[in-house]
Amino acid sequence: MIKKAEPSTTPSMQELVSLCKRRGFIFQSSEIYGGLGSCWDYGPLGVELKLNIKRLWWEEMTSHPNIVGIDASILMHHTVWEASGHVEGFNDLLVDCKACKQRFRPDDLTAQICPSCGGELTSARKFNLMFKTFMGPVEDEANIVYLRPETAQGIYVNFHNVVESARLKVPCGLAQIGKAFRNEITPGNFIFRTREFEQMEMQYFVRPGDDEKVFEEWLQSRFDWYARLGIDSHRIRLHEHMKDELAHYAKKAMDIQFEFPFGWQEIEGIHNRTDFDLARHQQYSRRNLEYFDVETNAHYIPYVIETSAGCDRALLATLLDAYSEEEVRGEKRVYLKFPKAVAPVEIAFFPLLKKDPLIEAADKLFHDFRRRYRSMYDDAGSIGRRYRRQDEVGTPFCVTVDFQSLEDQKVTVRDRDTMEQDRVAMDRLAEYFEDKFAHHE
Ligand code: GAP
Repeated sequence: MIKKAEPSTTPSMQELVSLCKRRGFIFQSSEIYGGLGSCWDYGPLGVELKLNIKRLWWEEMTSHPNIVGIDASILMHHTVWEASGHVEGFNDLLVDCKACKQRFRPDDLTAQICPSCGGELTSARKFNLMFKTFMGPVEDEANIVYLRPETAQGIYVNFHNVVESARLKVPCGLAQIGKAFRNEITPGNFIFRTREFEQMEMQYFVRPGDDEKVFEEWLQSRFDWYARLGIDSHRIRLHEHMKDELAHYAKKAMDIQFEFPFGWQEIEGIHNRTDFDLARHQQYSRRNLEYFDVETNAHYIPYVIETSAGCDRALLATLLDAYSEEEVRGEKRVYLKFPKAVAPVEIAFFPLLKKDPLIEAADKLFHDFRRRYRSMYDDAGSIGRRYRRQDEVGTPFCVTVDFQSLEDQKVTVRDRDTMEQDRVAMDRLAEYFEDKFAHHE
């Protein structure tokens, strides 16, 4: 069970974006040139936070005895996307305003006129969401390649390579984390919908007929996983895709949704993709992609249960859910109550004042601990301000060296959530943190 500190508050998106920039989690891409729409850069704390989320996902997947990882390239043979159905079917509808030239998705519109200027709209046309480029110096049809819109296809085309080399038996899974690209018509809400994002996808290959049961098992397991990010189970829910919402490959699809400030929205999809992808790759590649099941003595194309999470969306939900405000002695205190395994910084080390013997002692502790824990050293500003800075980035513990420490060899350890302080002997600090961090979950 995750122990969560109370109270929790939901910030506005504006407050969160501003905190992310101020503290170095996330910056607008190419900001000095005015920014590039829908692209974001992760700063020093953002990249640690993201790595922690990816690590928790990777551990969850690869601790499964039948799941192995891969890392396929972003650029793939163009036929992959014909076989997958993306060239033909990965489209959104688009309308243009004849007056101001802005573009909209018709399903975002409530009236038949432009919501921006009231101008007349064109009729809807299809727009393929894949980014196209050319391989090599010649820009012609034969050299078209796409930036992958999902990581899943890199798994399907490697299915046989992996099963044979790793000697896996169905049921088995392949997990992958990587970038995906979609030329979204209406990106927005910070890192929620972007044109370049990261996915954490796992394709689980099963015997046809076992798919429905395995789907339910993965659905539950994926729902439960979000507790490891500290996310309150009341802020996530399931949404089943109706027939008209189903992607071209899916027999059944459930979204895990999070309650964002802009409404309930998908953070992960669990899909029963049947044998659609492998069967199509078999057809387009003319390679036999059947699996021989030694137990049943049968050849078949396995069914696929896919779990497809957005790393950036999981990170946004983690930040929003961790955000907490409370009043302390008449002042607002903002802190991010990340679980320890998620926090970008685990321990911060301070000298009480920027004075020599204190700096030296705090710096020594920082160097002693930084290999074992994600650590930070800070001696700028008052101790109160330094605590506030660490609260705002969600650091679970701050260690302060004061003048008394030079005499009694003890330091003050301050807890982020309770703000309680322990006086701990320096030579027992390692043991103290062993104990505190042993209870990660
Ligand atoms: N392989 C299946 C697949 O890609 P999806 O529902 O289209 O399914 C899976 O995407 C996840 O990828 C979503 O739940 C979301 O978290 C993330 N995602 C999709 N489009 C995104 C975008 N434009 N920006 C950020 N994340 C996105």
